[in-house]
Amino acid sequence: MRFAIAVLPGDGIGPEVTQEAVRALERVGQRYGHTFDLSYAPVGGNAIDRYGTALPEETLQIARGADAVLFGAVGGPKWDDPKATVRPEDGILGLRRGLGLYANLRPVKIHPNLMYASPIKPQVLANVDLVVVRELTGGIYFGRPKRRWSTSRGRRGVDTMKYTEQEVRRILRVGFELARRRRKHLTSVDKANVLETSRLWREVAVEVAQEYPDVTLEHLLVDTAAMQLVRSPSRFDVIVTENLFGDILTDEAAVLAGSMGMLPSASLAGLPVGGKAGRRPKGLYEPIHGSAPDIVGQGKANPVAAILSAAFLLRYSLGLEQEAQAVEQAVDATLVQGHRTPDIAEEGRPVLSTREMGAAIIERIQ
Ligand code: IPM
Ligand code: MG
Repeated sequence: MRFAIAVLPGDGIGPEVTQEAVRALERVGQRYGHTFDLSYAPVGGNAIDRYGTALPEETLQIARGADAVLFGAVGGPKWDDPKATVRPEDGILGLRRGLGLYANLRPVKIHPNLMYASPIKPQVLANVDLVVVRELTGGIYFGRPKRRWSTSRGRRGVDTMKYTEQEVRRILRVGFELARRRRKHLTSVDKANVLETSRLWREVAVEVAQEYPDVTLEHLLVDTAAMQLVRSPSRFDVIVTENLFGDILTDEAAVLAGSMGMLPSASLAGLPVGGKAGRRPKGLYEPIHGSAPDIVGQGKANPVAAILSAAFLLRYSLGLEQEAQAVEQAVDATLVQGHRTPDIAEEGRPVLSTREMGAAIIERIQ
């Protein structure tokens, strides 16, 4: 089969890890007889430097026209001035919004050979297998008004957390659908003791639960959820939450896996329906880590999250389940055989560069 893939490497280590993900796709193409037509496009800080905007219109068009988008990372100190009117992050936010990618899936599984890499005790990490479903196109990230201004009594700033019941319902449905296919336990995370948007969220969650009598719904306040994530993470199956809470909780959850460099994500315009004739939503696939300016160009970045994101791309947007598993098994075998980038290496043990780790994984794609 033939597929159009938009490749948006971005800034910092984005290009380094994305290159390995692209190599993994190419290997899959050779092994399984698919052609991936890759269209590279600028996004983030480098796009600001060249075009004055983090998301050039052409990049958005390329992303829209593709079967799926493979994304690296954006941002860096060069573009961090709080007074700047354009920001690299507008690139990814604009893509999420522009492509209607409201459902962000961030699964957290701990590789048994990597327990030492996490600051959390191994007995706490045992049996952790959870997925965070983060609402991605609403809430305080996008609500208006959003601005800063000066008054005679000093400076002011405002952000707006806003949700419609339709936005809440569709993301809750994604959470319930996923839970139904897993261990049938859904934790809805909010701050209903303080926030109106959260009280709306909770009300809608209870309504949607009627459609899923086979799934157990629990509500947790976000502060409690943050605590439970490090105290007893194995209690979670599927967590569904709004945009900002999901952003924060998934960085925390990444610590369980030992490194931000391990976790992939999928941002979808709906949940895929399985099977050959199944619906394949538009999707953007990116590691959950950022551009890591401190290690850029040093070959230290871990390409695993990017490569696993490519596996998600194969599964969710292209419907290539077998190929997705081949990539995941290659990552698994590489880790089992002890290959490590610096972020996940044990003290004093040999480490591989980004390129070497990528090559080790790619040669294991069967
Ligand atoms: C993430 C990132 C982004 C977010 C940034 C880069 C805008 O932290 O994907 O988690 O806040 O969503
Ligand atoms: Mg984040």
